[in-house]
Amino acid sequence: MRPPSRRKRLRRAGHKIRTSSASRLTRKLPALSGELVQSPDQSPSLFQAANLWQFGDWQKLSSYGETGSTRSRQAGKIAMLAASANLQQGATERASQLIARAKKAGCTNKEISRILVAGAHLNLGKASYLAGRRQERHSAHFHAAAKSFFGVQSADASTRAIESEQLAQLGVPALWRRPDPSRRTFGRDVDRLIGDLATAIPSEPAFQVAAAERLQRRGDNPGAIRAWQKAAELMGESTPQLFYERLAETYKAQGSFPQGRLQDEQIRGKIDKYEVLRQLHEALKPSLYLEIGVQSGKSLALANCEAIGIDPMPMISVNLPRTAKVVATTSDDFFAKHANHMLQEPPDLVFIDGMHLFEYALRDFINIERFASPGTVVVIDDIFPNSQAQAARERVTQAWAGDVWKVYEILRQERPDLRLTAIDAFPTGVLLICGLDPSSENLAARYGSLVHKFLGIEDLPLEFVERSSATSLPVLEAIAEIIGS
Ligand SMILES: C[S@@+](CC[C@H](N)C(=O)[O-])C[C@H]1O[C@@H](n2cnc3c(N)ncnc32)[C@H](O)[C@@H]1O
Repeated sequence: MRPPSRRKRLRRAGHKIRTSSASRLTRKLPALSGELVQSPDQSPSLFQAANLWQFGDWQKLSSYGETGSTRSRQAGKIAMLAASANLQQGATERASQLIARAKKAGCTNKEISRILVAGAHLNLGKASYLAGRRQERHSAHFHAAAKSFFGVQSADASTRAIESEQLAQLGVPALWRRPDPSRRTFGRDVDRLIGDLATAIPSEPAFQVAAAERLQRRGDNPGAIRAWQKAAELMGESTPQLFYERLAETYKAQGSFPQGRLQDEQIRGKIDKYEVLRQLHEALKPSLYLEIGVQSGKSLALANCEAIGIDPMPMISVNLPRTAKVVATTSDDFFAKHANHMLQEPPDLVFIDGMHLFEYALRDFINIERFASPGTVVVIDDIFPNSQAQAARERVTQAWAGDVWKVYEILRQERPDLRLTAIDAFPTGVLLICGLDPSSENLAARYGSLVHKFLGIEDLPLEFVERSSATSLPVLEAIAEIIGS
């Protein structure tokens, strides 16, 4: 019969063995295993140091490494972890001293490089997150960090613990992180509570996200799409990229959005919107085309020039010209981080067809005007919903225009200096805008009060349904008129 293990012997002798999640995670793993198990006859410091490393507490950990005999391997390993923490903080000289100490205590080069490489992966994971790369990218780095740290293929739970702590250091609240698919689903009561909270306090984005996740888990994709949309509405410019990735997954799982009532889904128009864009490209021969909202790439593919398409969840299914670039981010993020270097020349033609909420399209227009020239032509899609349902801020129809029509109304009221030509295009109308003024401050200054005022307007005016302001000219003539005048 095998003798009882040391843990069992200690337990039988009445010792309490604390198994925190960190020790459970690390117990079986060879790189730092064995010494990590908290036990009464063992110095807890390696355990504590490993814990601090996992939780990314570099400040505290960097002061470790001086205790214990210089010949003890435990002390050597602590020095190794403290070296990693010092490196994280840029204290390279101190890190070298600690590495020397670890070597003296018998740590091998392989062991030391594993810990340092693990630290490097943490930085790569954070860099990848900050650069807005897909979740898989930064998760892969955190996984590599865990693997390198523990020395074997680490458990998912340890990867998640590390990822969670590292992203928390960047200020990412847990709710915004991708849920663990293997996670136990909530009990029914909690599930119901989440739904109730999202209904009772609809202005709290966290509840909408929780509701979206719950609906997605239950397979109610249209419900989840609406909840994600609602969260984006509440978060506005600070809506994180991860949100769009979750929304894209929901759209993929759903296929196409379900049809609403027949009378709500009617669509019409004298000319297809893609034909309007094609004719604009032909007439204007732009040198640079900018598009907000790319989706399959159908409209972006019409550009024969340098073209930039922006979409946080592009789902390209057509061949794009080699001159087209797609930037997978939100338009707000694009203007905050990329526009200065990517729009060194003003775009000649711009298509705004992103989020179907008027405040998003208005922000897009304000941002674009700053980079425009007086000759830039901007096209805004979806200014003529065919029904009240298509104009709803919450998606209920397949043909969804949202309340982008309000941007048309705002420009009419606030910017009489612009030349606006509405076109009765299929399926939901387009607006051509000329005479942009990059120095104009009016809309930016009034943005807050305009959003407040127009959020209060719910009814789609009949004039928009009837498209009575649309030009009666054929598109080519309308284009010639606006660019000629
Ligand atoms: C109607 S589709 C674009 C269709 C495309 N322009 C066409 O005509 O072929 C709208 C797109 O806007 C994107 N979108 C949603 N929110 C956005 C945002 N904040 N910034 C940029 N694009 C956004 C969506 O991901 C979606 O792909």
